[in-house]
Amino acid sequence: MARLEGKVAIITGSAQGMGASHARRFIKEGAKVVITDLNEEKGKALAAELGENALFVKHNVTNAEDWKNVVEETEKAFGKVDVLVNNAGISLNKSILETTEVEYRRIVDINQVSVFLGIKTVIPAMQKAGGGSIVNISSMNGIVAGAIGYTDTKFAVRGMTKAAAMECANYGITVNSVHPGVIATPMILQADSKAEIEEFSKHIPVKRVAQPEEVSNLVLYLASDESNYSTGSEFIVDGGLTAM
Ligand SMILES: NC(=O)c1ccc[n+]([C@@H]2O[C@H](COP(=O)([O-])OP(=O)(O)OC[C@H]3O[C@@H](n4cnc5c(N)ncnc54)[C@H](O)[C@@H]3O)[C@@H](O)[C@H]2O)c1
Repeated sequence: MARLEGKVAIITGSAQGMGASHARRFIKEGAKVVITDLNEEKGKALAAELGENALFVKHNVTNAEDWKNVVEETEKAFGKVDVLVNNAGISLNKSILETTEVEYRRIVDINQVSVFLGIKTVIPAMQKAGGGSIVNISSMNGIVAGAIGYTDTKFAVRGMTKAAAMECANYGITVNSVHPGVIATPMILQADSKAEIEEFSKHIPVKRVAQPEEVSNLVLYLASDESNYSTGSEFIVDGGLTAM
């Protein structure tokens, strides 16, 4: 049997990058997937490619009303919500002195407040469905330091995961965080040149960056019933970077 047979999943920020890879994998494993993103063009194109088990809903993850709409559209199209992958996020590569208050508040809103809104909005739907799985995408910078703003929000996602897991255990909902290292997505490929990525790869224990599909393997496990006894935990997929 497919590993997500009968499940309905919402994946935020899934028009491209890792989110799109998770959507493709989830569909292959029998799920119905709601692709949400600000990027309507790419989101619609992916949903069309994936067929009748995929739906695109335009979504700004910082907006509580948008979240309500995403859950309503999901229930309308597919009847319930079993899985939420809080994947949407942005990076910010500046020093503290270069970072403006506006930039700082923006990254907190997109990377952190969004995860709170997502968890809060899906709990009642998952309770109706009899339980569920919430997978929060943090980063290796939720384990060890990186840039200001990015590190802070990714640590917050790790902490929020643990707090939410304690409460959600009463509702049959698991909540876990995923901590990718350096993954070849537009986020990285647009910020760094090929030469910079090659140079950086030398410092990764496994000597390469990962492909998005390698993170999807882990997210799939956490979305499935195979991981029912794991909650409030962090799952690292970083080629050994945080073990150094
Ligand atoms: N790529 C990496 O190396 C890496 C490493 C660790 C963690 N991550 C995390 O993984 C997640 C996915 O990253 P990616 O590399 O695939 O990034 P990406 O930039 O390729 O894709 C992110 C998607 O999120 C969407 N998005 C941004 N702001 C949004 C908003 N306000 N509302 C809705 N959608 C929004 C974008 O439109 C985009 O489609 C992020 O949370 C990121 O921080 C990435």
